[in-house]
Amino acid sequence: MMNTLILTLITVLAVFSCSPAAEPLPFPEIIPFPQHVESSRGTFDASEAEVVCPDELDSLSKAYISSFSDRLSSVKGHSAGKNRIVFKTDPSIKDEAYSIKITPRKITVRASGLNGFVYAVQTLKQMMPADIYGTAPAPDADWLLPCCTIDDCPRFGYRGMLIDVARYFSSVEEVKKFLDMMEIHKMNVFHWHLTDDQGWRIEIKKYPELTTTGSKRRHTLVGHHHVSNEYDGIPYGEGMWYSQEEIREVVDYAASKGITVIPEIDLPGHMMGALAAYPHLGCTGGPYEVLGKWGISDDVLCAGKEENYRFLENVLEEVCALFPSEYIHIGGDECPKTRWETCPRCQAKIKELGLEDDDKHTAEHYLQSHVMKRMAQFLAERGKKIIGWEEMLQGELPQGSTVMAWRRNKYGHRAAKLGHDAIMSTRTYLYLDRYQSEDKENEPLAHSSYLPVEMVWAYDPYVSEDEKAGPLTEEQKKHILGIQANVWREYIPDNNHLEYMTYPRMDAVAEVQWLLPENKDWDRFRKGLDRMRKVYDLMGYNYATHVWDEEQELD
Ligand code: ACM
Ligand code: ZN
Repeated sequence: MMNTLILTLITVLAVFSCSPAAEPLPFPEIIPFPQHVESSRGTFDASEAEVVCPDELDSLSKAYISSFSDRLSSVKGHSAGKNRIVFKTDPSIKDEAYSIKITPRKITVRASGLNGFVYAVQTLKQMMPADIYGTAPAPDADWLLPCCTIDDCPRFGYRGMLIDVARYFSSVEEVKKFLDMMEIHKMNVFHWHLTDDQGWRIEIKKYPELTTTGSKRRHTLVGHHHVSNEYDGIPYGEGMWYSQEEIREVVDYAASKGITVIPEIDLPGHMMGALAAYPHLGCTGGPYEVLGKWGISDDVLCAGKEENYRFLENVLEEVCALFPSEYIHIGGDECPKTRWETCPRCQAKIKELGLEDDDKHTAEHYLQSHVMKRMAQFLAERGKKIIGWEEMLQGELPQGSTVMAWRRNKYGHRAAKLGHDAIMSTRTYLYLDRYQSEDKENEPLAHSSYLPVEMVWAYDPYVSEDEKAGPLTEEQKKHILGIQANVWREYIPDNNHLEYMTYPRMDAVAEVQWLLPENKDWDRFRKGLDRMRKVYDLMGYNYATHVWDEEQELD
């Protein structure tokens, strides 16, 4: 009799404890999707949750978790209840990886440092109602999270986004808003393209004219640069540069989200901003004008004048003091050799260095390698490494340099085969200044080709276009540090438009950067975009609606 009673009691208890959710709740389609999710039965009610953050965490992680805790408390609109979200440092977890275990009463988050905690929090937020991205209380939203175990880590260590603030400027607030979205997408590098032919936008104390003169252009081209000769007659750029104070503010803001800021000082080409400010930097001595048109300029830094190397070093010295990043990007792209070919100083330098044409490159290419190598050396003495665009392959690669491929994958692969690191930023898939519809007439002016979300999402950094060179070996693949998408600004004058070009393509970028190809699933990602759209709406971001519009047309 007693035994029967106990048995009945056990049965009742067992049925009762499982009954709220007999089947595991489906896991939400978050972006980027975690590498490994194991669902279990039951739910965790986040509206009853209190965040527990132990004292031993580093200060950045504590601040980050505490702001998540504040947001959760204010948005869920209930007082803390019986459930706990506990954060724990676990040194055995790899850098940037994290694990989350969700049981009915407790969520345990483990990571070894700030980045892992950032990504864990972002995963938890995406599992919650979109209201968590706003500030208004939403006590009636569905705060139940499915019980599960998540083990997640990124595919690539370098997950970058570039904004070109030289062609058109972004205010500090606009840059921060962009960083907020990078954070949500678990990205960790902000490549800040600060100088170009159309404007110099970073304060350098030793050379004040770089910003007071070099940031301003007389006018700007109207329409497409291969077609138009018309200018708007409106001066652009007055006051549009960052003080060193503002640079530090952005660097710190990014760091609080686990994002490293890599500045780019583009040299020795793309320097008309600097040449307009200090004409002696050029081969002809000018006068020069900050460009109002797009494309590239024959006027570049004179590589024959020793004092120009001092100039670059002085600029980079200040840059090093502002950016804690191990990497400094020194450009190196699209530098015509026209002036160098006829400049007596450049030719004298070529002779002095004993540079000669060979069957692959000209002496002037090797002169550019000389500039890049000297800067790499200068930065190495300050504990920094350089990144340069793929043109660095024309000539000799500076020791320890990382190549950023932009025209084709094969240039990144070539670097990897030479034992150098590479970052893939292949324009056909990752330049977000391209059209989002084939119906170009009804789109704002954009750069040439068509790049829908699907195509970004399908990007494969290992595809080789070079049959002769063949695919990368597993060992060579380790040199591909990661992937970056670039928002070049020739046709993107303001932030509203920048957001239109960036979102939701950034979602696809994030998934390519984070998720292993075998774990990708288009249908799941597509549903994830619906979730993300709510986030964009709630946080007040502009975005392109082509993904949704085109499906409506098919219905
Ligand atoms: C580039 O697009 N010139 C890097
Ligand atoms: Zn010269």
